[in-house]
Amino acid sequence: MEDFILAFQSSAQKIQNLLKVSHTDYLSTTNSSGDNQLGIDVKADKIIEEELLSLNSVRGLCSEEKNEVIYKDYGSYFIAYDPLDGSSIISSNLSVGSIFGIYKEGFESKNIIAAAYVVYGPRLELVFANDVLSYFIYDGKSWKKQPPLKLNESGKINAPGGTQKNWSSKHKTLIDSFFQKGYRLRYSGGMVPDLHQILIKKGGLFSYPATSDAPNGKLRKLFEVFPFAFIYEKAGGGAIDGKNRLLELPINGIHDTSPCFFGSIEEINEVRRIYE
Ligand code: AHG
Ligand code: MN
Ligand code: MN
Repeated sequence: MEDFILAFQSSAQKIQNLLKVSHTDYLSTTNSSGDNQLGIDVKADKIIEEELLSLNSVRGLCSEEKNEVIYKDYGSYFIAYDPLDGSSIISSNLSVGSIFGIYKEGFESKNIIAAAYVVYGPRLELVFANDVLSYFIYDGKSWKKQPPLKLNESGKINAPGGTQKNWSSKHKTLIDSFFQKGYRLRYSGGMVPDLHQILIKKGGLFSYPATSDAPNGKLRKLFEVFPFAFIYEKAGGGAIDGKNRLLELPINGIHDTSPCFFGSIEEINEVRRIYE
């Protein structure tokens, strides 16, 4: 797995350099999810593709910005990635990220064996999970390993995604119950910094529910939902779609989406209680 960590670090440094000189122009193209693509979405996709295809262990690649899977005829791992998560907040200079899921034998939740994300913020950071969770910060010269991240049983952050007028009444009840208990609203609109903040502060809830305009949620299973589900479970938390464990969901296509809830154990139990 060491070669993956090095590849993610190398592509992260290149993408961070691109972000510094800001490319926030939209192209005339949309991706498979119907999102307008930024020039930098496509450039970041290419940087990661080149980095990963150079690894002998990589067999297949798919990303949020590609319509089809790229296959090689050797290698044993399948990588799904979101090259740039948070395109809509790049113009406001908020933190954004990249997300990676490493699968063996094919793109299915049960096959995920490692996951990672990069945070492009005031600092460049990488979180990588396989059997354990590793956390690295780039100091401008090298990547320095940090103490591991671990969630407490509960926290104080509430990060509710989706447009409120499109929430179900059950979901409104859930989100409001956390505010009534004193949880603070922390939502930037980028799942990488929002989920990273919950990990760093050791607890809370991030939700992106089914909404009336997106009954299957917005976030994509292979590139966004499964990697973070893997990371949150490794950090001692939980990750469900309201009822089921996210890492047990089937997939019907590489751009498939799911409602999702990530958090510490007590918050996830509360989601289960209200959604049942
Ligand atoms: P992307 O930029 O890769 O399309 O993903 C953006 C995602 C995710 O980062 C974030 O949590 C969510 O979209 C925000 O959606 P809303 O603006 O609907 O809350
Ligand atoms: Mn994304
Ligand atoms: Mn993206």
